[in-house]
Amino acid sequence: MNVETAKDIQSYLEHQAGLETLRFITCGSVDDGKSTLIGRMLYESKMIFDDQLAELENTSRKIGTQGEDIDFALLVDGLSAEREQGITIDVAYRFFATDKRKFIVADTPGHEQYTRNMVTGASTADVAVILIDARKGVLTQSRRHSFIASLLGIRHIVLAVNKMDLVGYDEAIYDAIVEDYGKMAEALDFETITAIPVSALKGDNIVERSGKTHWYHGPTLLGFLGVVETRKALADHGFRMPVQWVNRPDLDFRGYAGTVVAGTVSRGDQVRILPSGELATVDEILLGMGKLDTALTDQAVTITLDREVDISRGDVIVAGQDPCETSDQFETKLVWMDQEEGFIGRSYRMKIGAATVNATLSDIRHKYNINTFEEVPGRNLTLNDISVVKLGLDRPVAFEPFRDCPAMGSFVLIDRQTNRTVAAGMIDYALRRASNVHRQAVTVDKAARAHLNGHKGKVLWFTGLSGSGKSTIANALEQRLHAQGLRTYILDGDNVRLGLNRDLGFTDADRVENIRRIAEVAKLMVDAGLIVMTAFISPFRAERQMARELFEPGEFVEIFVDTPLETAEKRDPKGLYKKARRGELPNFTGIDSPYEAPETPEFHLHTETETLDALAEHLAAGLDLTL
Ligand code: ADX
Repeated sequence: MNVETAKDIQSYLEHQAGLETLRFITCGSVDDGKSTLIGRMLYESKMIFDDQLAELENTSRKIGTQGEDIDFALLVDGLSAEREQGITIDVAYRFFATDKRKFIVADTPGHEQYTRNMVTGASTADVAVILIDARKGVLTQSRRHSFIASLLGIRHIVLAVNKMDLVGYDEAIYDAIVEDYGKMAEALDFETITAIPVSALKGDNIVERSGKTHWYHGPTLLGFLGVVETRKALADHGFRMPVQWVNRPDLDFRGYAGTVVAGTVSRGDQVRILPSGELATVDEILLGMGKLDTALTDQAVTITLDREVDISRGDVIVAGQDPCETSDQFETKLVWMDQEEGFIGRSYRMKIGAATVNATLSDIRHKYNINTFEEVPGRNLTLNDISVVKLGLDRPVAFEPFRDCPAMGSFVLIDRQTNRTVAAGMIDYALRRASNVHRQAVTVDKAARAHLNGHKGKVLWFTGLSGSGKSTIANALEQRLHAQGLRTYILDGDNVRLGLNRDLGFTDADRVENIRRIAEVAKLMVDAGLIVMTAFISPFRAERQMARELFEPGEFVEIFVDTPLETAEKRDPKGLYKKARRGELPNFTGIDSPYEAPETPEFHLHTETETLDALAEHLAAGLDLTL
């Protein structure tokens, strides 16, 4: 390479490094032309290498849908090798640049999972490009995407009315769509909405002004993206770094690795560890093999401190004098993304920053009607629902409201059984109520009561179909234990539903709440020193797991009363199966409502092959009740 070229490259790189970065996201329904649009921008900004271009021309001719023209969608889709290999990734970021700016576009693959990916991809976006197919106009999807964009705090919208070539570049069609969208977006509080008639396929008004839209006098898409204001950078925000990993290769070194999500930190700075609140001073900042005096926002570094502090993965290191709050109760906005419904009372795994905690959906304040953006009541969350919900965590986490710091205020909920991400959410604020309720300390405790009783308290959790024999076996067992002088109590489905849970029916949501209350009552009884037998269908694994986690190890004994449906139905002690088969009893377990059998119960009882006496004896003998 000669000296001149080297200089050129050097000055090019310096120029590039000094450019401001704009982050944006494209939102469209299936076939609106998202991939084509991104491909076109990469192409026109010359971010495609020659060999990729040659291959693209080739493939376009072979399998493309555009005749002799280049099929840009193939470019974007083809670049995603991970997609071909079937690896699911949430968001792919694509980079390109003009001489004015660098651009990062969050490309959100997968049509069904779109909403979820949008939430992940858009949380740092400055602009949302809402793609509208000129032939179809504003769709429900466009409303949903716009609404989510507004929830994510995006201030600027580009309404890209695409496929103008297919409607003859008709001004009236364009105007009608712009007016329609404007009316809809009135409720959404965007700072600017910039409509542009484009054809991603033909290249109209993407980079070059189109000769076919003489009636349009606004900017081109890339022209606009080159000048629109970017979000306030988080560089002057207080320092925040969630700890991803505690690096402890030997006894002499202990470093905390993570990405700085806001602010900066320098050697000698005082920092606070949250949620514990302990203070320390930054000793060294390591980046790869080198050392830094200061770490900036977005840098992934390892920090060492001047003293030993107890820090684990998920804790957050923050500026000593400018810390954020911690809480275990939140009001949040939630986008539901799973086929399976979400219920009040159900517990999920919550990932926030680098922390993983258990979170229970404690209340649904309201859902939004996506057509009117009105608030509507609801007890469960279905696919694509956007709602305001309260969450209760099993321990406090450091956080900030999403609008102040997206990285500290966004989270996902994960189903504990399937490990699927079921929701993405944003924290609005912490609820103070619960933080002022403290557990009352008592002197006579569980151990003292157990001692007086001469045996441990336990919960024997019977689960199985209606008519499987739960109550009958519990009853036989109680007789035996009682005769041995043990203190027992039976909580039975039918009885509890006549009193405490009189307000609950048999929808999935009500069953979840039924079990939550039973588990809490059983916990009080175990605390009182009793051996509690609960006889409820308790059809869902998630709630049985939730119940188990309320107890100390060994206290919760799951007993699966395994009776095949045919047998339970034949017994039909209350005639309910017959009713259900006639369609007079909706949501009947085993008929039109699921039963999820335990996978690893402490006891697995087969009622068809064993007698009642044998089963009760087996249980009585197998329980460890000694102090
Ligand atoms: S659970 O699913 O919420 O655990 P639970 O054990 O409290 O149910 O109540 C089940 C009892 O309610 C059944 O044994 C039956 O007598 C009665 N029942 C009435 N309707 C239904 C229904 N739709 N599904 C199941 N049980 C029902």
